[in-house]
Amino acid sequence: MPKALPLFPDRLAQAQVVIERYLVDRMAGLQDQPVVHAMRYAASGGKRLRGFLVLESAALHGIALPQAIDAAAAVECLHAYSLVHDDLPCMDNDDLRRGLPTVHVKWDDATAVLAGDALQALAFALLTSPMLGAADRRLTLVAGLAAASGVEGMVLGQALDIAAETASTPLTLEQITALQAGKTGALIGWSAEAGAILAGADPAPLRAYATALGLAFQIADDILDVEGDAEKAGKRLRKDEAAGKATFVSLLGLDGARARARALADQAEAALAPYGSAAAPLIGAARFVIARDN
Ligand code: IPE
Ligand code: IPE
Ligand code: MG
Ligand code: MG
Ligand code: MG
Repeated sequence: MPKALPLFPDRLAQAQVVIERYLVDRMAGLQDQPVVHAMRYAASGGKRLRGFLVLESAALHGIALPQAIDAAAAVECLHAYSLVHDDLPCMDNDDLRRGLPTVHVKWDDATAVLAGDALQALAFALLTSPMLGAADRRLTLVAGLAAASGVEGMVLGQALDIAAETASTPLTLEQITALQAGKTGALIGWSAEAGAILAGADPAPLRAYATALGLAFQIADDILDVEGDAEKAGKRLRKDEAAGKATFVSLLGLDGARARARALADQAEAALAPYGSAAAPLIGAARFVIARDN
């Protein structure tokens, strides 16, 4: 496969900076409380892939940054909440995230639960911003994020992930695909479609792109767990097998999982054909997700 398009790293770096700044500003006026400090801490850093997808799908439809940034910030808050809860002792019990101690380690479990709750609420508050345009489009985004993050989406995937740890028989390929589509795919899907929703355009090609991208992304995460460098990843690795996690690696082995991720990245790229060269940054993202080391 050819190297990542040069356009992509710069645009991702740019998205990281603007989203970080926006979130800092948005949380600037809050009370001086441990839960607020924990919120800011959890919302900081990360690759910002989901926010990048929002901004790029918006740009693809001629929507400028100020009209899309609230949606990008919203999905990053929602994602940050999911990570804070994912790391809790009752979930994956992790002590490192984005190269720093997890929220429950730095504060305590109650603060981590509440900071996650607050980030989730903030995500939906951000989606009410008039900057995002007409109320009906904002409502579509709100309903979509609720579906993607709730018990038909991320929460369902997380519940299946935890249940699989103690299941008596390994999950099938179909079951793992469904698990990962919820746990990771749903938020990535919402992000990639957001620009089309904001523009009142047909989100179908972006939906097809994101379905493949989300799966490729989670397969890469599972591969990283087996062969990645914890220093670069900023989180503990070599944990999934011992925890009995159901992953593509557990089912297909490393080579099989790698081949599947590559095929999915190609599929994601092919889905962008209707947009022509304007979709170059999103093609770059598809190549990046399977080649990343963090
Ligand atoms: C990690 O997501 C959790 C998964 C869904 C696999 P990311 O790899 O996007 O985490 P950050 O935001 O860059 O830290
Ligand atoms: C986390 O998946 C997915 C969500 C937070 C929704 P993982 O448990 O595989 O993510 P990491 O490996 O801890 O980042
Ligand atoms: Mg997990
Ligand atoms: Mg985890
Ligand atoms: Mg993982």
